[in-house]
Amino acid sequence: MSSTITVRVPAKVNVQLAVGGRRADGFHGLASVFFAVGLYDEVTVTPADRLSVSVAGPDAAAVPADRSNLAARAAVLLGSRYGITPQVHLHIDKGIPVAGGMAGGSADAAAALVGCDALWGTGADPAVLAELAAELGSDVPFGLLGGVALGEGRGEVLSPVPTGGSFHWVFAVADGGLSTPAVYGECDRLRDLDGGSADTDLPVPAADPVLLEALRTGDATALGAALSNDLQPAALSLRPALAATLRAGADAGAIGTLVSGSGPTCAFLVKDAASAAALATTLTASGTCRTALPAAGPVPGATVLN
Ligand code: C5P
Repeated sequence: MSSTITVRVPAKVNVQLAVGGRRADGFHGLASVFFAVGLYDEVTVTPADRLSVSVAGPDAAAVPADRSNLAARAAVLLGSRYGITPQVHLHIDKGIPVAGGMAGGSADAAAALVGCDALWGTGADPAVLAELAAELGSDVPFGLLGGVALGEGRGEVLSPVPTGGSFHWVFAVADGGLSTPAVYGECDRLRDLDGGSADTDLPVPAADPVLLEALRTGDATALGAALSNDLQPAALSLRPALAATLRAGADAGAIGTLVSGSGPTCAFLVKDAASAAALATTLTASGTCRTALPAAGPVPGATVLN
């Protein structure tokens, strides 16, 4: 057993995010097609006297470096399951935009589960890790799995989706994040205003067969046309400047554009790695985002590096 474990974990974009009605528990029923992309956080787990957290990266100041961090809560939860006091230091090297709609906090929790499991030699069954992950948050189980998967329930009930080949993306990172509960709340408010009700009158969301076929055949043009996100109007309502970001990417030739999850990161699908590099340069120069990062996927979920 090594005395230090480093786990690499990817960001996600939802290539489809169909949001159903508000449930009695406050969550929304989803059909969420998660897609793991090559933007990563690394979580390093080291034995320590007590549980502690440190964070590095451009947005480190926006991430709690204490026991409220979702990665710390993951260590506590795994420890309590196996009767282990979580005496570890968790160092999080953040490459995933913070509060950006790319599940960075959830990714860190998934990485902490995998890292502590490896450090402590608990050998937790994947089904147990998935159950603990779902307790921590709706997006955490996908951080363990990676690849492409359909998430049902509140997003935590996963089934892998087959894909043919790689897809190339650019992610436009905004200045400042958006709160996920606030974006869901705005989605409900807009739906209520629209004359319907956010609780009723809404069909149970389902995966789009055209989108699944585009993923299966590796057809980027078809995937670009099928991208959809029911949270996008809410994210745009809370952050109207995102419309200019989306327009800049479309004008520069992206074959698909959408807000990533609850935003404010915007995702652009392009046909190859060279197009991704060129679009990232164009978007960064456009002044409509803080920076733009190329990334390909799908990639695997939380993986031990040493
Ligand atoms: O599960 P997680 O902690 O990531 O969810 C954060 C918040 O996002 C929830 O408290 C809820 O407001 C909203 N949410 C939702 N429906 C989902 C997932 C998240 O309303 N399916």
